[in-house]
Amino acid sequence: MIQIKDFKGFEGQTIETQGWVMNKRSGKGIEFIILRDGSGFAQCIVSEENVSPATFDRAKRLSQETSVKLSGKIIKDDKQIGGYEMHVDDIEIIGESVDYPISNKEHGIEFLMDNRHLWLRSKRQWAILKIRNRIILSIHNFFQKEGFIQTDSPIFTGNAAEGSTTLFSSKYYDQDAYLAQTGQLYGEAMAMAMGKIYTFGPTFRAEKSKTRRHLSEFWMIEPEMAFFDNDMNMDLIENFIKHIVTDVLENCKEELEILERNLSVFKNIAKLRFPRLTYDEAVKIIKGEKTINGKKSTDILIEDLAEVKAQINNKKAELQEKEKEIAGGLKKGVKNFIQNKIDQLKNEISDLEIVEKNIPQWLSSAENFRYGNDFGGSDETVITRMFDVPVMVYNWPHEIKAFYMKRDKAMPEMAKGVDVLAPEGYGEIVGGGERETDLNLLLSKIEEHKLPLKEFEWYLDLRKYGSVPHSGFGLGLERTVAWICGTQHIRETIPFPRYYGRLHP
Ligand code: 4AD
Ligand code: MG
Repeated sequence: MIQIKDFKGFEGQTIETQGWVMNKRSGKGIEFIILRDGSGFAQCIVSEENVSPATFDRAKRLSQETSVKLSGKIIKDDKQIGGYEMHVDDIEIIGESVDYPISNKEHGIEFLMDNRHLWLRSKRQWAILKIRNRIILSIHNFFQKEGFIQTDSPIFTGNAAEGSTTLFSSKYYDQDAYLAQTGQLYGEAMAMAMGKIYTFGPTFRAEKSKTRRHLSEFWMIEPEMAFFDNDMNMDLIENFIKHIVTDVLENCKEELEILERNLSVFKNIAKLRFPRLTYDEAVKIIKGEKTINGKKSTDILIEDLAEVKAQINNKKAELQEKEKEIAGGLKKGVKNFIQNKIDQLKNEISDLEIVEKNIPQWLSSAENFRYGNDFGGSDETVITRMFDVPVMVYNWPHEIKAFYMKRDKAMPEMAKGVDVLAPEGYGEIVGGGERETDLNLLLSKIEEHKLPLKEFEWYLDLRKYGSVPHSGFGLGLERTVAWICGTQHIRETIPFPRYYGRLHP
């Protein structure tokens, strides 16, 4: 049995393949099947004159998502998806598919989420999951080459690390337990044993809001390095992100094309150094008090707003045109085609209208930003809008950061944390920093955050027995996938997303 991705090695030969009928269109005496098998997509042509009447009849009746075994000859055709097509001589039906609920027309998002178990079969979801897979591989390759050891942290924990408001509580036999928000504290213990480690696992946060960036269950990669300060940490983060993006661009060309990802946004990633801004500098940019390349963030937003308005007008004109076209007497196929375009335009317009509404809000929240606050999604968007590569923001007010962040000796109000913000409004993809090693400061922080000291005794041991400077970070896998794929919403970046209000399927 030959997989679609391997068709190119069988040009001119007759082979067998199996997969699902993704789509089918009929001509006179000919059926065009788009077959998918997980490895790729291929057009398979069944022509009445080349097959038995029974086979042709079977071809005519094939419905969407029927699973089949096909045999036929592989022909090169650059115009076709995948570059090779099959001229079918026989069809065997493996599993029927009656009234498949997802068609080629535009569906509402709730409907698609309810049918996530089937939606995963679509070309777009296939492309996203392939890229997710590549990112995971690329993460392992990077850290293994850098001499890191992968170690795993527990999911049942007795303590909070990232603030108690987002804990999922659970039972562990007769004890109270929580699902891990991060593997970091355990990672620190393992770094003291192994030097440089990374954990890679699911983490859980009760985020009671539906945003395009938040999941309740997400995967995080968390390296932790002994003898690293925050500058070394930032160097590592930058090399790491450059490695992932370069690797995906090189190895996922077909997938990125399916997603129609605008690749020009990545053109400087490998070349340019990521800007490193202190929190203070970032605040000045948000408030329009500091210019970048002669421009204020507020001016750029005003320009963006005008651009969005122009785009909306263009799309509305195009929509009107199409609506006029469809009103005329047209063949069913053509009508469907135009209707699809109309639905697509409507979706695009409503997306743009959201941005049109958002920009004035970003402007006012930027102007009203209070020094000392954490950045909201819109603040992050404003900062990253000024650059075309990810931006690192470091040296944060310690009061808004986790209890374990190292205080800066020179500026005691600041902690040596770093956030990496992805361009195009994708927001924070990395959070990390140097860890506090001063036992007394840690004790006072644990008290300040009202954390149960008893649960942290083991963690404090790490400061008692050969404590060393150390740093680390966490990269959110799904946010990274969303950014690289250019998906509107994080929910498409994991096979079965869990977010506020969504537990099924
Ligand atoms: O900034 P965070 O909270 O950092 C930590 O958890 C540290 N313990 C990491 C470390 O230093 N070892 O989370 C890290 C990253 C964020 O930058 C974001 O990419 C992702 O995890 N993240 C989420 N992704 C999806 N949904 C959510 N609700 C997320 N919360 C955080
Ligand atoms: Mg963070």
